[in-house]
Amino acid sequence: MIKALTNTGSIKSTLVGTAVVVTALTLSIMPSHAQEKEQIRSQEDQKMVASVAAGGRLYDNWIRELAVKPPKKPHPLYPDEGRLADQPLETWRCVTCHGWDYLGDKGNFAKGDNFTGIKGIAGMIGTAPNKIKAKLKEPQHAYLDVFDDQAMEDIANFVSIGLVPMDRVIDRTTGRAMAKAQPSSPYYSTICVNCHGGDGRMMETIPPLGDAARNDPWQALHKMLNGHPGDDMPALRAFDVNTTLTTLAYVQALPSRDTLYSIARGGKLYDDWAAEIDTNYPKDKHKAFPKGKEIEANSSTWRCIECHGWDYKGAHGVRGIRNMIGSHPATIIKVLKDDVHNLDHKLNYADFYDLAVFVSRGQVDMNEYIDARTREARGNPDRSTQYYLTLCATCHGEEGRAIRTMPAIGRVATDKPWQALHKILHGHPGDEMPAWQATMTPANIKDVLAKLQTLPKRK
Ligand code: HEC
Ligand code: HEC
Ligand code: HEC
Ligand code: HEC
Repeated sequence: MIKALTNTGSIKSTLVGTAVVVTALTLSIMPSHAQEKEQIRSQEDQKMVASVAAGGRLYDNWIRELAVKPPKKPHPLYPDEGRLADQPLETWRCVTCHGWDYLGDKGNFAKGDNFTGIKGIAGMIGTAPNKIKAKLKEPQHAYLDVFDDQAMEDIANFVSIGLVPMDRVIDRTTGRAMAKAQPSSPYYSTICVNCHGGDGRMMETIPPLGDAARNDPWQALHKMLNGHPGDDMPALRAFDVNTTLTTLAYVQALPSRDTLYSIARGGKLYDDWAAEIDTNYPKDKHKAFPKGKEIEANSSTWRCIECHGWDYKGAHGVRGIRNMIGSHPATIIKVLKDDVHNLDHKLNYADFYDLAVFVSRGQVDMNEYIDARTREARGNPDRSTQYYLTLCATCHGEEGRAIRTMPAIGRVATDKPWQALHKILHGHPGDEMPAWQATMTPANIKDVLAKLQTLPKRK
């Protein structure tokens, strides 16, 4: 497959430096020493590889890579009706208009949120860098003033010889790397693990790498070849494309974030996100909190429960979240990032994701557990003694009075059964109390709640 790449006229152009790409493509994954000797590249060619990678990072986000102030006005060529029209910085990134697959409106950006109707740049593969520079300097493209000579050089080199013909290495319909599945990967296990963790789930600011690489393989391949703008992530470009492709195949098999973990953590964030992530709520009252309503002194109008309730049916006059059960996490994340919620930049990717998974898949119908009229748990306290004594009493004590920072557990379970139930299901934010939703059956949980309601109300 990769061999075929080297035979294409578009890659084998007449340019200086193109030899780098061609040799790179034919290297095997682990070159033998004999091969290594044969293929030593000239100093010029080696510097060219670095320049192309730098150009790739500029293509991704030159404002981050060059650490310069973002332009205040949107890019003149960005369509007024585009989704990012109100975020000037985003409109200046090359990738916004020309795509991660370099195919613009003919590629992955042909429809959906990223559509701009602008063509790709893959047609420029092999074009002399000077012609590319001239394109960028055209007044409507407007890059003359923002790039210095080096940046201009790097990005022109990238467009000229650094573009991977994506449709030859990534299957457009499945999104999978056209490489054999990899049971292990020396590149992943020695390079990527340091920052992304053995399973790709260590960085909380981005999706698990497996998800990222499955959802947008073109972006993943681009970043793996060129690095992440403004960060220390190494660029694999010095190895051959085949190496990066087999690494991508490995990354695409890494796991998603664990659903049960997300539900439990999402439930804790819903209860009290500042406590769970160990931060403080903004000092000002939340703008969406209804006027004239009061909350307890030690709470905050920024907690989900104050607007949407312990039973998820709404509180203080705000509607509930039960209608969103089963919705796609991405749909819920959009709501959480809207102007009403005002949480963008306050929570990171993993927080939004876990909250969304909780909303979508973690809500129980509390009427099945608690009689809303009498507030009594619909369970049998006598059936749960073994559970209470083995799972709860270690921390709460036989009578439920052992934890000094909280009232007697019998009091909480009787006066605030919905709050107690939510915490039994999801655990207590920022504390070691386990979440029991995944391991105890609904019947066990009803019985335990009934048991708590029989315990002493006073300390
Ligand atoms: C706001 C949108 C936008 C951004 C951002 C943008 N371009 Fe373009 N680019 C265009 C449009 C529009 C064209 C002209 C397409 C046409 O001729 O139909 C173009 C054309 C090009 C071409 C020529 C393509 C061809 O086949 O003729 C290249 C190369 C190019 N851009 C590179 C870049 C690079 C590199 C960056 C980032 C430094 C960039 N562009 C950023 C909109 C953009
Ligand atoms: C020195 C640390 C470091 C190493 C090593 C590293 N990365 Fe990264 N990677 C980052 C950072 C930082 C980001 C950007 C995080 C952000 O946007 O918040 C990133 C982002 C990514 C992304 C984009 C994910 C997305 O959806 O935004 C991919 C894909 C990726 N890395 C793959 C890899 C692979 C594969 C390797 C090994 C070849 C690797 N990284 C090695 C630091 C590293
Ligand atoms: C200060 C009050 C307030 C807080 C705090 C709040 N929300 Fe909301 N939420 C609203 C309002 C008002 C709406 C309806 C308007 C909208 O869709 O944005 C809403 C809508 C929603 C919806 C969509 C419900 C539907 O059926 O369309 C979800 C899901 C949601 N919120 C989740 C959360 C989560 C999770 C949190 C905690 C991180 C949270 N909200 C915190 C006020 C709040
Ligand atoms: C590892 C210790 C630990 C275990 C085991 C544990 N909890 Fe907790 N639990 C806590 C802590 C700590 C808190 C929070 C105390 C506070 O509010 O300061 C808590 C809080 C609670 C609350 C909420 C009280 C409130 O103020 O709303 C309930 C209800 C509860 N636990 C029930 C249970 C039940 C039922 C079990 C067994 C199925 C259990 N817990 C097991 C440590 C534990």
